[in-house]
Amino acid sequence: MKNIREKIRNKTACVGVIGLGYVGLPLSMAFSKHFNTIGYDVYEQCITNLKSGKSHILDVTDLTLQKYVNNSFIPTKDPEQLKNCDFIIICVPTPLTEQLEPDLSYIKSASKTIASVLRKGQFIILESTTYPGTTEEVVLPILEGTGLKATVDFGLAYSPERIDPGNKQYSVETTPKVVGGINDECTEIAFALYESIIDKVIKVNDAKTAEAVKIVENIFRNVNIALVNELALIFEKMGIDTWEVINAASSKPYGFMPFYPGPGIGGHCIPLDPFYMSYRAKKFGFIPRFIETSGEINDFMKIHAINLIEKGLLKVNKRIYGSQVAVMGLAYKKNIDDTRESPSVKIIEELVNLGADVKVYDPYASSIKTKIGKFYSEATIEEALKESDCVIFVTDHNSFRELNMKELCKLMNYPVIIDCKNLNFCVENAIHLGIGKGNNGMQ
Ligand SMILES: NC(=O)c1ccc[n+]([C@@H]2O[C@H](COP(=O)([O-])OP(=O)(O)OC[C@H]3O[C@@H](n4cnc5c(N)ncnc54)[C@H](O)[C@@H]3O)[C@@H](O)[C@H]2O)c1
Repeated sequence: MKNIREKIRNKTACVGVIGLGYVGLPLSMAFSKHFNTIGYDVYEQCITNLKSGKSHILDVTDLTLQKYVNNSFIPTKDPEQLKNCDFIIICVPTPLTEQLEPDLSYIKSASKTIASVLRKGQFIILESTTYPGTTEEVVLPILEGTGLKATVDFGLAYSPERIDPGNKQYSVETTPKVVGGINDECTEIAFALYESIIDKVIKVNDAKTAEAVKIVENIFRNVNIALVNELALIFEKMGIDTWEVINAASSKPYGFMPFYPGPGIGGHCIPLDPFYMSYRAKKFGFIPRFIETSGEINDFMKIHAINLIEKGLLKVNKRIYGSQVAVMGLAYKKNIDDTRESPSVKIIEELVNLGADVKVYDPYASSIKTKIGKFYSEATIEEALKESDCVIFVTDHNSFRELNMKELCKLMNYPVIIDCKNLNFCVENAIHLGIGKGNNGMQ
């Protein structure tokens, strides 16, 4: 690894990225601005599209991709090309198994791919979110299975990815990055690589500390969202608007950070990562009550949303059974197309199981997979709302805030509006219930 720092300095290092999804593709673009970058993925269609300049990630425009692709950025499904890389960064998924335990099969498989091409002088960085200990206990043994020795023949570090899809304010380059290697030299080398493309890089003691940083960030969100969700359930009964409370509490210039209630959390990180920590904590004989309770509260919010639908329909002498319900928003958060772990999945499944006829609409996501099949977005919001008995807004896409609900309600059989995200539609004579709204937002 002697020459590797020099290669960073004179920009002759070649960077490989394994997994070209929400994390790997934006990261590849950031590296491609300065280094030759090889993007490897097992998903053939994604490679074909990328080669022809078509991006599958909203945050990477076709125009940006076309600037670098087949130039400094080479997408490939051929692992042999990784042999040419000085750095190889792993950005593959870390989902949960059916038993809600960490599924490290993607990390293991990517590590085996690297092992098949590993040579002296290469430096490997894991970016996938995982529990503390993965880099040293899972990745390292697979790489050392080649006979090469970590810290002597190849370098190894962990650096958590903090990308926030849809966030226009913070890019890969402007989001501070944390790095921790399996020894001090590895920390320094990983630091030097990221520092060459990212504004601020923070070194921590070792790889497992860096792994813990990411898990803490996501558990912090999970727990705080659970806290406001619990408060929202209480304030609904007390006739207090949770949103007004939080906004007013946010006027305190120190010691308070706003989180908002909703129908549960989604995405590939926040709902899953607490399970990673919980699994790991149990291995050390510790039952993480706080973390597990937060998961349960956040999960319950989907059921609460269903209860609000039932309550709203009762106001017009209807029940969920036999009603037509429009679900607005399939993405797990606003202004993006990612439906992974979206609260809409459970809400759709429950509604159908209870006998509702469900139509869905999302301006970004064209479909959503559920246990009872795939649901496709109607082409227009009008088609989704036509003759429906109830509409539930699960996601707060900006375009939803601009809707003329007064006009749209005229298309519905009954104007029953369930608002999970404080969209605050004011429609005279409509039934309007909202998560976290005092008296359930009755108008
Ligand atoms: N999406 C986010 O907002 C976000 C943010 C921070 C961290 N993360 C973490 O980053 C990691 C990646 O998440 P993502 O959202 O980019 O996932 P993704 O599903 O969007 O992309 C993963 C890509 O990896 C590819 N892949 C899977 N196995 C592979 C293998 N063995 N070899 C090569 N390619 C393989 C898939 O085909 C896919 O294109 C996860 O650990 C996640 O928790 C995600």
